[in-house]
Amino acid sequence: MTTTRVALVTGAAAGIGAACSIRLAKEGIAVGVLDLDEGRCAGTVREIEADGGKAVALGADVSDRVQVRAAVARLRDTFGPITILVNNAGVTDFTPFEDITEELLSFVYKVNVFGPIIVTQEILSDMKAEHWGRVVNISSSSAQTGSSKMAAYSSSKGAVISLTRTLAQELGPHGITVNTIPPGSITGTIMADENISEASKERLAATLPVRRVGRPEDIANACAFLCSEASSYVTAQVIGVNGGRVVT
Ligand SMILES: NC(=O)c1ccc[n+]([C@@H]2O[C@H](COP(=O)([O-])OP(=O)(O)OC[C@H]3O[C@@H](n4cnc5c(N)ncnc54)[C@H](O)[C@@H]3O)[C@@H](O)[C@H]2O)c1
Repeated sequence: MTTTRVALVTGAAAGIGAACSIRLAKEGIAVGVLDLDEGRCAGTVREIEADGGKAVALGADVSDRVQVRAAVARLRDTFGPITILVNNAGVTDFTPFEDITEELLSFVYKVNVFGPIIVTQEILSDMKAEHWGRVVNISSSSAQTGSSKMAAYSSSKGAVISLTRTLAQELGPHGITVNTIPPGSITGTIMADENISEASKERLAATLPVRRVGRPEDIANACAFLCSEASSYVTAQVIGVNGGRVVT
């Protein structure tokens, strides 16, 4: 690889997205750190730059095509064509099935399903022009196993898994691989820490083959492989990173 690759990571102000951004930057990749609020991305950018890496903070709602288009243009103008995309931004929900409203469903699907579709569409021309691309979609182990009171969320993440398989078929001939990581029990993120108590984490760890809950860096390590040259024969795959919680 002679030129610097450029990646966009969504939902990168915190948690898994921040860890993926920092890990990709360590590989020499210039990173667009995108989240709802540009100011919140400053911490991730600072950490990358302090380590000698390159990053730019971008504010956009992934479900808003106009905002995404502007952010993508800024990243492209700053570092060049974008050939790596980590669709990580997501929202979760724990509403019992009978109480799910169309408004709630629409919100969850707009971020978790429309988001990755819109962002991928906006970047695709760069990947096709380079005849090289890596798309990593962060789904969820709840889509593999089902999860009580998570109908809106887990079904949206099931859509992300199906989207991954379909895009891998459609984009493979253009040199683009598309894979999905469904995380399981990753703590140290806003989403997990708001919803899982310390006692529950300990109980959960005791049930996992590896006897610990996951960290954002566990996802980032798998993500770095899927974004690398070394993964060129890996596409359409669901790469579980879950401490052994899910066996498929
Ligand atoms: N933590 C886990 O155990 C776990 C398990 C399964 C799946 N996941 C998935 O991993 C991804 C990251 O989760 P996390 O645990 O790091 O959560 P997190 O809440 O710490 O981070 C999610 C980030 O996405 C951003 N975001 C939300 N909506 C957005 C939008 N519309 N546009 C742009 N950014 C937006 C948030 O501001 C936040 O910074 C999510 O897709 C989540 O569904 C996490």
